[in-house]
Amino acid sequence: MSVSFIILAAGMGSRMNSDTPKVLHHIAAAPLLHHALTAARNLEPSRIVVVTGHEAALVTKSAEAFDVSVQCVVQDPQLGTAHAVAQAAPLLAEMGGEAIVLYGDTPFIRPETLEAMLHARARHSVVVLGFEAKDPGLYGRLVTSGETLEKIVEYQEATDEERSITLCNSGVICASAKTMFDLIARVGNGNAAAEYYLTDIVEIAHADGLSAGVVICDESETLGVNTRAQLAEAEAAFQSRARSDALENGVTLTAPETVFFALDTHIGRDAIIGPNVIFGPAVTIESGAEIKGFCHLEGCHVSRGATVGPFARLRPGAELAEDVHVGNFVEIKNAILDEGVKVGHLTYIGDADIGEFTNIGAGTVTCNYDGVMKHRTKIGKRAFIGSDTMLVAPVSIGNDALTASGSVITENVPDAALALGRAKQVNKPGLAIKLMARLKSIKAAKGSS
Ligand code: UD1
Ligand code: CA
Repeated sequence: MSVSFIILAAGMGSRMNSDTPKVLHHIAAAPLLHHALTAARNLEPSRIVVVTGHEAALVTKSAEAFDVSVQCVVQDPQLGTAHAVAQAAPLLAEMGGEAIVLYGDTPFIRPETLEAMLHARARHSVVVLGFEAKDPGLYGRLVTSGETLEKIVEYQEATDEERSITLCNSGVICASAKTMFDLIARVGNGNAAAEYYLTDIVEIAHADGLSAGVVICDESETLGVNTRAQLAEAEAAFQSRARSDALENGVTLTAPETVFFALDTHIGRDAIIGPNVIFGPAVTIESGAEIKGFCHLEGCHVSRGATVGPFARLRPGAELAEDVHVGNFVEIKNAILDEGVKVGHLTYIGDADIGEFTNIGAGTVTCNYDGVMKHRTKIGKRAFIGSDTMLVAPVSIGNDALTASGSVITENVPDAALALGRAKQVNKPGLAIKLMARLKSIKAAKGSS
């Protein structure tokens, strides 16, 4: 059965008090919108349409960065949730299949919940996702009788009796695309807010003799973000769940509460993650790798048996093969480290390829940037880069080559060669004592004057 998603993301989110549109604020290193898109993509939909409005160009760019196949439409002006969904009609009305409406500011709806709604469609023409609210506040209320959803009343329109209902509308609605757009076309705006309410389709369905039902999920799934405080709450909720999931999946977290995950972090079984580790976007850690404390990782891949840190930084394009060791105060960016490479201490490796079993000495720097362009450093297999070597790129070091400590390497080094690129040392016998005596006498002369 084909499914299409309509993700509403036109609102400004004024309570965020921000220049950034609400759905582009981040949770777990990803825009809120990407969380909703991830939930949708999990169901392998035939189409996803994002309804943009406020800062449409920015929101569209972010949606396309998530997946080029996502389509965006602009809702201008914004006349309510039914009007927002109607903007997707030209793209979806002819599609057939099911249509599910999600909100771009509601990041935690689980794919299993969406599946349950699709199943409930066997019994009802319109299926609404509801939840029992601890504090129902201003949510729309679900008026039910037995299995049947009679109607959804917005808080502003509700009677006192209806306001006492605690079963609330999450906003997620599922129907066949055809039914969805047929019903929406007949929604009016004769209400307190003069808006076209998506929620009105339930009563219109009944008038057509169609049935509506409710699928109930936990309130935590429907957590929407309207304020910075809710954004922080949502971040905490995400992290807490990500930590439990990692532990459940066989990852050791020495101090779970100090580890921060991104939406797309992948960690294999039997990996060990020390305290105070931060995962930015696009990190994959394979089984059995170890990330020691205080590391910061983004856009990188760490293979089996590799060890990283403590205090290491892996930036986008860092690719660590099996059994690589990256030690303390090392930064790696856009570099491929083949099997068994060791970079133990105080080093910057950027824009580089390093062959297997090469050892990089303490204080090595790939001087990759000339102020205008970036250049690559290539190092062969089993090479030994002496401590405090400056590798001025573009430059290449051969297999089994060696650079002397303190060298500034500006020319290519052939296979098996020893490169010395430093001033020759000169020893002056006794000069240290003489020099000290002279300096002390200068100081004494100054003190007495
Ligand atoms: C809506 C529901 C309410 C439900 C609540 C759950 C309606 C009429 N009410 O109320 O029953 O309990 O969500 O959070 O549907 N949007 C657009 N274009 C518009 C209007 C809204 O894209 O013209 C988007 C917003 O950006 C937001 C979502 O739709 O992501 C919900 O809109 P919002 O105004 O927050 O609806 P609520 O009043 O919270
Ligand atoms: Ca809202």
